[in-house]
Amino acid sequence: MAKNLVFLVVSAVIAAFSVELVSAQDKAEGKKIYLTYCAACHGESGKGDGLAAGSMAVKPADHTNGEVMNKQSDQFLFDIISKGGAAVQKSPMMPGWGGQLKENQIRDVVAYIRSLATPPYKPPKQ
Ligand code: HEC
Repeated sequence: MAKNLVFLVVSAVIAAFSVELVSAQDKAEGKKIYLTYCAACHGESGKGDGLAAGSMAVKPADHTNGEVMNKQSDQFLFDIISKGGAAVQKSPMMPGWGGQLKENQIRDVVAYIRSLATPPYKPPKQ
């Protein structure tokens, strides 16, 4: 009985630790990609103040603003990043990245964008 309990506690700790590890990895990868491909327009801190954004008719959103960003579904973020603004009836100034980035890289970027939001993003309960 006590042995089972120890086993349960140990596996719970390992499971929690590996989940944390995986999501930290995703965010770190996503951040690299964001700084490389996205910061020119979205800004290094994601506030939509990148160098190229100044002259645009439709400005990128502030990715640190949870009030705005938390309303967007993961699917919407994935689609606009992968296919570009025009494909989702948004500004064509947002390029599509499906050609350069693999699906899992786009998911990493979405995880990174989520981590910028204040108030923090809470995934919908399934
Ligand atoms: C050439 C400038 C440019 C680059 C580079 C760019 N974006 Fe955008 N992005 C935009 C603009 C402009 C919008 C606003 C579209 C609209 O609201 O109609 C946008 C919109 C978005 C949105 C929807 C929320 C918002 O900000 O309005 C996401 C998410 C996004 N971009 C992610 C990315 C990611 C991730 C990358 C890098 C892989 C990237 N963008 C690179 C210009 C850019």
